[in-house]
This record gives sequence, C-alpha cells and structure tokens, in this order.
Amino acid sequence: MGFTPDFLDEIRNRIMVSDVVARRVRLVRKGHEHSGLCPFHSEKTASFTVNDDKGFYHCFGCGAHGDVIKFITETEGLSFLETVERLAGQAGLEMPTYNPQDRQRSAQKKSLYDVMEAACRYFESGLAAQAGKTGLDYLTRRGLSHDTIKKFRLGYAPDNRSAIRDALLSRDGITEDMMVTAGLLIRLADDGGTGKPGTAKPGTAKSGTAKPGYDRFRHRIMFPITDRQGRVVAFGGRALATDAKAKYLNSPETPLFHKGRLLYNLAGARKASYDKGRVLVVEGYMDVIALVQAGFPNAVAPLGTAVTEDQIIELWRLAPEPLMCFDGDRAGLQAAYRVAEKSLPLLKAGHSLRFVRLPDKEDPDSYIGGHGAQAFRNLLAKARNLIDIIWDMKTVSVAADTPEQQAGLEQSLAETLSGISNRTIRGYYDREFQKRLVTLLGGAFIPDHSLEKSARKKNHSDYSPKPYDKKDKFTRKISLPGVKSLKNTAMFKVGNSGGIKWEKLLILMVLNHPWLIREHHEEFATTHFDSAELDKLRCEIIDVSLRESDLDRKSLYSHLLKTGYGRALKVIFEQGKSKLNRYAWPDAARQDVEQGWFHAFNRYRRIYDLEKELKAAEMDLTEDMTEDVFARFLALKAELENAKGQ
Ligand code: UTP
Ligand code: MN
Repeated sequence: MGFTPDFLDEIRNRIMVSDVVARRVRLVRKGHEHSGLCPFHSEKTASFTVNDDKGFYHCFGCGAHGDVIKFITETEGLSFLETVERLAGQAGLEMPTYNPQDRQRSAQKKSLYDVMEAACRYFESGLAAQAGKTGLDYLTRRGLSHDTIKKFRLGYAPDNRSAIRDALLSRDGITEDMMVTAGLLIRLADDGGTGKPGTAKPGTAKSGTAKPGYDRFRHRIMFPITDRQGRVVAFGGRALATDAKAKYLNSPETPLFHKGRLLYNLAGARKASYDKGRVLVVEGYMDVIALVQAGFPNAVAPLGTAVTEDQIIELWRLAPEPLMCFDGDRAGLQAAYRVAEKSLPLLKAGHSLRFVRLPDKEDPDSYIGGHGAQAFRNLLAKARNLIDIIWDMKTVSVAADTPEQQAGLEQSLAETLSGISNRTIRGYYDREFQKRLVTLLGGAFIPDHSLEKSARKKNHSDYSPKPYDKKDKFTRKISLPGVKSLKNTAMFKVGNSGGIKWEKLLILMVLNHPWLIREHHEEFATTHFDSAELDKLRCEIIDVSLRESDLDRKSLYSHLLKTGYGRALKVIFEQGKSKLNRYAWPDAARQDVEQGWFHAFNRYRRIYDLEKELKAAEMDLTEDMTEDVFARFLALKAELENAKGQ
C-alpha cells in the first residue's frame, strides 16, 4: 500500500520543520516559534512563521501554509513521492515495500547501490594513488580544481583487467554476479562477447563454468553518474590512451540505470535549476563539469545518446524552457535539429526549448576555457527560440524559387505542423509560419489558407524539398523502387499516441478498482503516459492515493471530480463500456482484474517502446535510406500495428 498515515507522521515527528526551512530562510527564534521572510512571496518584514510543536509553517502575508513535506515539494520541485523518499532517508526510515516481488527487487537494488558506491570510492581513491597520476595530471591540465574533482567524485580505473574485481570481491557480500549485473565486469560466457549482460543462455551464469569476469573500465577517467537522489548508478569512462577504441565508454543498462531517463548531474543541478527557473543542457560530461566550475550549477547532459523524450519531460520539471547548448559543429547542429523535432509532439502551453549557438568547433567547455564565464553568459542571452530552429531546419538551404518548390516548402511546413500535438500551439505555429513565408518569398506569396488545414488535406504529392546535402544523399543512396513515393503516404507516417487507448483503460481499471494502486503502485507510478492530460490525471490519482491510504472507488471519484477531471472521466468511462475490456468493469472478479491489469500494462509498454523505436527508425531513414533500414522500419511498423490491433 502507499504510505500509511503513520509512516508520514513518523517522518513529521522525526524531522523539524524549522531545520528544513532554515536551509532556505533565515529564521529568528521567538518563544515557541521561528519567524523569517516568506520564501513564497517577496516581503520586507517577516510574516512567515514556523511552529515545530505543531509541525507546520504559516505565512500571515500570503497565506502559504503546510508541513515539512509540502515545504519541500513547493520549494525544490520534487514530487510528493520523491520528497517522502528523501525525508524518509534523512529520518532514517525505510520506505515501505509493497509486495514480495517488490521487496525482493528493492532489496536487490539496495545491494547494487552498495556495489556502485563501493566502486565509486575505489575509483576515487585510484585517482589519488600513484597509478592514477596520469589521470590526475590529465584533469588538472584540463583546468579542473581539486574541489571540482571531489564534487563530481571523479576517479581513475587502473589499466588492469581485474582491479575492481579484486578490490570489491574482498568486501562483505559483494559477489562477482553483482558486479556483472551492475555493469562493472564483463563476463564473456555471459554475454557472448557483445558486452551486453542478460543474453546468457539459462544456467551459464550460475553453472560455475563461466569464465571470470573482467573489468569493463580500464585506464579511464571515471565519471560517476548518479540518479535523481544522488546515488551512483552508472559510470562514464573517458579513455586516457589515445588509441582506445571508444573515447567514452558508459555503463550498460542495468537494474539501476536507464540512460534514456536520467541526465548527468541531475541531482546536482535540480535545485539550482528550479530556483533559477532555468536549466542548461550540454552534450558532454566535461561540459557539465566546466560549467559548474565556472558558476553555472544548473547544467546537465544526456548520457552518451541524443536527448530522449523522457529527458525532455524531465527537463521541463526543472524549468519551462531548457537551454540546449550543443557543440558548434555540424553534429551539434544536427543534434539540435533532432531534439527540436522530438519536442514537437510533447509541447505544452508555456513549455518549450531554447537553443544556444556556439562558434564552430567549440563546445561549452572549450568556450568557457577560452572566453570566460561572462562571454558564455552573453551567448546564453542570445539563445534562439524553438520556432527559429525549426524554421531554419525547414528553410535554410532549401530552394524556393519556382512555384513547385514553393508548394513543396509549404507542404514540408505543413508536415511539421501536423507533428505538434497541442492544438493551440499548433495554431500559433501555423500563423507564424505563414507570416514568415510571406517574408521569405518576398511578398509574392499571400497565403489565404491555413497551412495546417492543407496538412490535413495532404495532396500526396511526390515532391518535397530536402536540404541540398540530404538531397545528394538521397540520389546517391536511394535504390529502392517506390520508396520515394511512399514518403508522403499515410503508411509511412508514424503516428504517436497509439497507446492512448491503453492509457485510458489503465486509468479506468484504477478508478473501478482502486486497490490496484496500492498493490501495483510501482508500475502505475513509474510509467509516464504519453497523453499529457491523462498523465496529469495519473499523477493526481497517485497523489491522492498516497495521502489517503484507504481510498475507495467513491472517494477517488469524487476527489477527481472536485479537482476538475470530470470531462476526462466521462471520456474514460465511455470507453469502459466496451465488451472487450470486461476485466475493467466494476464488477469484475479480482483475479480477472489483476490479469487484465498485467495484460493492459504489458501491451501499453510494448506499444510505447515500439512507437519510440519506430520514430527512431523513421529518423534513421531520412538520413540513411538503405534497404536494411527500410526493412527494419517496415518490420517495426507491422509489429506496432499488430500490437495495437489486439
Ligand atoms: P564529446 O566527444 O563532445 O565529449 O562527446 P566531450 O565531453 O567534449 O569530451 P572531451 O572534452 O573530449 O573529454 C560528448 C558526449 O558524448 C558521449 C559522452 O557522454 C560525451 O560526454 N560519448 C562521446 C560517448 O558516449 N562515447 C564516445 O565515444 C564519445
Ligand atoms: Mn569537450
């Protein structure tokens, strides 16, 4: 079950509100109370009071009022669940566990965290040792101070195939299996040499005949990657040898580490970002570190991949318009274009991305090194809006001289518009694109219709302009008959939100069977829904369920009505009449409900993953139109249709 009131009370009892508040507000003690300047509105005389006996704070100026949990959620941008987790940690309380599997999973996680922490310490000490001198010299040469190295817990992995293995195996309770699972060791018998754990034939890992694992990271500078709470869950290792195969080697996906969901320095940057209302996104670990050292604590980076949808959503929890500071080379520009496109279906009112352009061949690290923090700040001030980036992407080096080319440009813009899911935002983009078209075409073109509508009509024309370089690529590579004409047909388009049906179904099940939230809290709480509206509803349900431990159907329903979800509920209940989803009905037997729940969840995740893969494949296709890529695209497409159809 969620949290019992007892558990929350225990937290409130153990942690003084004034201790927590005092980290942000200068408090003066007056009898039983403390007072200070209110952090929730600006004031010159203190009307904000904290009462430890009663366990709450109250502002007589603006009416802000709450307990220690509320204070943290409101000042640090953490969710209710995260706040409770953090406070429980500070209070020395174990988080409640939900069912035997969960308990086992969290027990295993705990010990893997221990392994990662031990590894981190080992690498840190390696940097101080004689063997790590090359590493330390390297970091010093790159301008990192002793404090910075300590803050980011940088380390050194020795040039030895069994260093971490030998060092950690002697520790209590750390086994080789754990180190393999944590991604520290590679075991050949386990991965067939691919470096990917989990592909083992059953039995090989435990049969005792497996070869001993060897260290994944050798002769590298180690960058610990921490999770949202600052626990080490992975490493990035930078090669010191110039002939190393990969400049950076990262931990594989492990039970603790999902690289598409996390950001480098997320834990460190969160508070500063939230406070400043601004977060900087750079490409490399060294960029983050250089920025933090230069006085920009709100810097994060993706983890060796392009920025993902999940990461964009995560960034929006920190600030409404994350600033993307990509390298000033072609790859950096491509990365900017990619994330810009990726963000379109996710856009919501007030949330966007902005883009900082660095000079050619510079990255934020080199730029700050060469020009200083103030110069970088000036660059930030010149950040460009998402719409400008999209406009450039669609128009720079695209010919629009002939009527056919102009129509092609119009169509390509219309396609972009159709990728924006939020209708209001789409409308504004439409208007702005039309305005810019007039300017671009030298006033010759007076649009009397909306581009968006023309996107819907879609006249399946064969012509669509490509930037010149891409066009070259196309003519060189394309050898598939018919592919070009497929480009604009419906079968080629990757729709998003095919999973919405399932999202509604999952919510319906929870509405009719609130015990599901208690018993399957984890799935429900950790799966972001694609539909922003349904996701809000999902979060709301989680929040009430955490506050009210004995939530029943009626009280959940009336709470949601009160909080303004009436319309959404109506739509959801409408779908609930379907005969197909009998297991979601209010009178369904508990066992059927549970089975249905797993069915729906697995299906949903499958669709979600496939859609993502398909989008990536589509992206690959536009860059690299080969038979293989195309075959993969078609296969994914068929699989998705299949998954949706059932
Ligand atoms: P860069 O090559 O821009 O690295 O890659 P950098 O951070 O500027 O590194 P320095 O300054 O040469 O030390 C950016 C990011 O891409 C990932 C890493 O996350 C890196 O920080 N990357 C790069 C890899 O995962 N593997 C690689 O081989 C290279
Ligand atoms: Mn660099």
